[in-house]
Amino acid sequence: MKKNMLSPLYLTANLLTLGLGLGSCNNAMATPFEVLHWWTDQGELHAKQVLVEHLKVNNIEFEDFAIVGEGGGGAIHVLQMRALSGTPPEAAQIKGPDIAEWNNLGMLAEIDKLTDTGSWQQVFPQVVIDDVTVDQQYMAVPINIHRVNWLWLNTKIFKQFALAPPQTWKEFFTTADFLASKGVKPLVFGGTPWQDALLFESIAISELGTEKYIQAFVDFNHDVISSSEMINAFKLFKKLHRYASPEQQGQGWFWASESFINNQAAMLFMGDWVKGSWTVAGKKAMQDYQCIPAPGTKGVFSYNIDSFVLFKKLHSVVEQRNQAIFVETLVSPEFQTDFSKVKGSIPARTDLDLSGFDDCSLQSAADFKSNVKVPSFTQNMATSSHQQGQMTQLISNYFNSDTLTAEEVVQQLGVMVKALTSK
Ligand code: BGC
Repeated sequence: MKKNMLSPLYLTANLLTLGLGLGSCNNAMATPFEVLHWWTDQGELHAKQVLVEHLKVNNIEFEDFAIVGEGGGGAIHVLQMRALSGTPPEAAQIKGPDIAEWNNLGMLAEIDKLTDTGSWQQVFPQVVIDDVTVDQQYMAVPINIHRVNWLWLNTKIFKQFALAPPQTWKEFFTTADFLASKGVKPLVFGGTPWQDALLFESIAISELGTEKYIQAFVDFNHDVISSSEMINAFKLFKKLHRYASPEQQGQGWFWASESFINNQAAMLFMGDWVKGSWTVAGKKAMQDYQCIPAPGTKGVFSYNIDSFVLFKKLHSVVEQRNQAIFVETLVSPEFQTDFSKVKGSIPARTDLDLSGFDDCSLQSAADFKSNVKVPSFTQNMATSSHQQGQMTQLISNYFNSDTLTAEEVVQQLGVMVKALTSK
């Protein structure tokens, strides 16, 4: 691995600023640097290892604080406990509006105070800058961009039946019903609220269009939330329940990803972090699987930006210095490239050479440039994790209920959103 871009001049300047002599370096460098995250799938573990190695090159000893749980729901709760007891880790995987929520508690370090962020405006696109900025201060370090509105197609099964990629929901149902008639599982779900909601998100984008999707899930506009388009989106969502089977209920996305790549199902809705585990298993984009935008969402990019916040460590210059190195490592071109190649994402920086990335990532990068970009509400880009958790549960209850109607769930969503957003 190439050494990250931390110039000796930079390090020396920072050490001096922080009042540390270079002589104290070795001892200080051994301080473990605790990082909370929820990367626990095979692909995610490999990606995390890239982070560990890059930090090691810069003398930071990564201390793992991994919490299993889809989309980070579990991690946030554990982090809250640690923060309340006054012992937060050095860094934590926090993204979207949660960054501002943690900042309101006065616990986060301002990145500008740790290190020079002068180049960020040039190297990161505006959505990324906006995502990590609170009150004109950078409060988190962006590392990568995942696309959420993907439909994955199993090449072997699609080839076997000479099927064309479904572009519309109508084509999707025709393809899925055909496969079911041949005894092939058309679609695999891991049967958890987070995955149900992720599927609903793509349907909402396709049925509402980007403007109304933003009005509903970013601005919480009550009229749009209770609109007939929203009711239609829920009805369409429910139609996909016919492909769910009891044995997959509660299995989780690792399981869904594995059964898809092992040719047990033809299609899967999931963000492109799912590719990480396929890469580890030696599977190749376009060869073993294909990526297309979820039906009806061509031209739209539902984004999910991974980032880390740093907790204030005012009492320790060593920890602050290590935090500075952590930030510099994470924004370096080398780390952003190496990490995203393994993670299945694209780098948050847009000034990097993407040769060596797989075709789905290249497609993602091209679409990120040209498409309408919407924040993924199921991945915390538009809502805090608390709001997201509540909405996710409601969406999933509806999906799995035999009695709840689309009209009723829309009404419940309206009431819920009012309660969640009232001050
Ligand atoms: C995170 C990804 C992660 C995925 C599944 C998403 O919310 O942004 O980094 O791989 O959850 O764990």
